Amino acid sequence: MSRKTYFNGVAETWDERYCTPQLVASLKNLVSQFGLKLGQHVLDVGTGTGVLIPHLVQAVGQSGSVTAVDYAEKMVRICKSKHAHLANVSVRLHDIQEEGLPLESFDAVTCFGLFPHLTRKENALRNMNQALKPGGILVIAHALSSEEIRTHHANAGSPVVNDTLPEEAEMKRLLKRAGGFRSTLKTNMVAMSVYQTKNEVYFLLFVHC
Ligand SMILES: C[S@@+](CC[C@H](N)C(=O)[O-])C[C@H]1O[C@@H](n2cnc3c(N)ncnc32)[C@H](O)[C@@H]1O
Repeated sequence: MSRKTYFNGVAETWDERYCTPQLVASLKNLVSQFGLKLGQHVLDVGTGTGVLIPHLVQAVGQSGSVTAVDYAEKMVRICKSKHAHLANVSVRLHDIQEEGLPLESFDAVTCFGLFPHLTRKENALRNMNQALKPGGILVIAHALSSEEIRTHHANAGSPVVNDTLPEEAEMKRLLKRAGGFRSTLKTNMVAMSVYQTKNEVYFLLFVHC
C-alpha cells in the first residue's frame, strides 16, 4: 500500500482518532511559537483535515491568508468541508514532492506532522524554499517528540512503519542541499519536536519530558 492510499484510508476517522482534546489544546500554544504576524500569507503543507488552520487563520487575521495543501484526495475533501467557507482559506490537492508552487509567495510554510512521511525530503524542501518570500520561515513541527514519533509509526504499521524524523546532521544536510537556508541550530523546549528555519535555519528540537 502506498502512503497516499494509507492517508486516504484514515482520512474519515482522522479527527476522531488523532484530534484529541489534549492535542487541540496544545495547538494554540504551538502556533504562537511560529511568530506569525497579521497580514501574512501561510502555506500549510500536509494539512490533512486542517487541524492547524483555525490557529493559522487567527494568527494572520483577515488581511492574511492560509493556503492548505495535501496530496490525499479524501483529506482535501474533508478539509474543504471544514474550512473552505472561510474567505481567506484555500484548500488544494498538491504533492509537495512533485510540484512547485508560485515563487516567493508565502511568508511562512508550516508542516505539522508531515515531515517523517516525505520520501523525497530534499525535493519537498526545495519546493517549499522556492515558495517562500525572502526572509520567510519554514516550520516543521510535531505534537510528539522524535522518539514518540518512531514508536507511534511503528505501531501504526505499513507503510508508515519506518517513517521517522531525520537526525540532526541529516536534517542540516537536507536543508543545505535544498538551498536557501542558513544553518543555525537551536535546541530547547519540551514535549514536542519543532524544526524551524528562517533563511537562518532554526532547528528547535523539543524533547519529550
Ligand atoms: C500525519 S498526517 C498530518 C495531517 C495534519 N497536518 C495533522 O496534523 O492532523 C500527514 C499528512 O501529510 C500528507 N502528505 C504526505 N505526503 C505528502 C506530500 N508529498 N504532499 C502533500 N501532502 C502530503 C498526508 O496525506 C497526510 O494528510
